[in-house]
Amino acid sequence: MPNSPETNCDALLTVEALTVSVRTREGTANIVRDVSFTVAPGDFVGIVGESGSGKTMTLMNLLRLTHDPNLTVSGHVWFGGEDLLTLSEKRLQEIRGGQIAVIFQDAMTALTPVYTVGWHIAEQLRAHQNTSQKAAHSRAIELLKEVGIPAPEVRVNAYPHELSGGMRQRAVIAMALACEPSILLADEPTTALDVTTQAQILDLMQQLQSRHGSAVIFVTHDVGVVAQAANKVMVMYSGRIVEQGPTQDVLATPQHPYTWGLLGSIPKRGATRRTVRLVSIPGVPPSPLTTHDGCAFADRCAFVHERCVEQPPLVALAKHPDHSDACWLPRSDRESLRARVLVSAQPADPNDTAKRDQGPA
Ligand SMILES: Nc1ncnc2c1ncn2[C@@H]1O[C@H](COP(=O)(O)OP(=O)(O)OP(=O)(O)O)[C@@H](O)[C@H]1O
Ligand SMILES: [Mg+2]
Repeated sequence: MPNSPETNCDALLTVEALTVSVRTREGTANIVRDVSFTVAPGDFVGIVGESGSGKTMTLMNLLRLTHDPNLTVSGHVWFGGEDLLTLSEKRLQEIRGGQIAVIFQDAMTALTPVYTVGWHIAEQLRAHQNTSQKAAHSRAIELLKEVGIPAPEVRVNAYPHELSGGMRQRAVIAMALACEPSILLADEPTTALDVTTQAQILDLMQQLQSRHGSAVIFVTHDVGVVAQAANKVMVMYSGRIVEQGPTQDVLATPQHPYTWGLLGSIPKRGATRRTVRLVSIPGVPPSPLTTHDGCAFADRCAFVHERCVEQPPLVALAKHPDHSDACWLPRSDRESLRARVLVSAQPADPNDTAKRDQGPA
């Protein structure tokens, strides 16, 4: 039986068994499979995983932003006592941009070339808050200043093509924040930018999040970004969450062989080519057309065994109930197996790791 929103009153957003499938010529593709998680006020949740793991489709379907008639979405997305998956399009439009805002990877997709930056922000305010034209213009200047755009009184009249990529992404963030949403959904908002601008935008999002007290759900390929910004992380593989928990726990004592692979493939700070052997995950992720009775990672996993023909459930660690993973390997074996994979990315505190790995959850 699905939880009622009342049982999750501390959560801002409660996602239960979100499942997305699409009918294609080749058959049904299962894109998001039984994804459940909660977001509390002030959370910065990072969703990581390889290309095609279902990160974008999870994010987009929280707000029913996909309009493909071949798509079937099931589950529940509880927000403020309402299930977003069952709301009318009219009510959803009030929530989109007003209470839940979205930032995409390419800022240009959010901006119409023939309108000024100020118009875009003012439009958000007028749509959701019935603000006068003059007040909206002044607020647009304030917001552009807040996101670090120089000479905001001048830039407010600029067209999108007159701004650099980084400036455009800042303008989109200003638009998203215009109505002070309680949740910000961001799909790789820094991927198209250079490294310095990426760091600045990430920093800005963290500052704004703490100032406005909103929650952020952030999709990225980059585990470094998660380490820097997120307090919670969800690792996705083939449409499922395979590991989730507080970022520091997941990064210090990762439990799932797929997470070990992801962490093993990033260079450690200060490492040189002589001292480090980076590990990549062999093989490629399965097509969403594949139906799995068992673990979807089994084909690529160095530790596959008989039990993996069954789908492993997400199970929490005994002493860390917020940290869970979906793998049949005995908990007591994890530390030594992880050490074999994580040649270059050792856990932060090996003593702590040893303590935590004792005993099955
Ligand atoms: N409308 C659609 N029809 C068929 N397949 C789709 C459709 N939309 C998405 N998919 C497939 O669903 C899977 C998950 O897509 P999604 O965009 O969520 O991946 P992602 O994790 O965001 O990847 P990336 O990191 O490359 O952005 C992919 O295999 C994609 O090809
Ligand atoms: Mg994506």
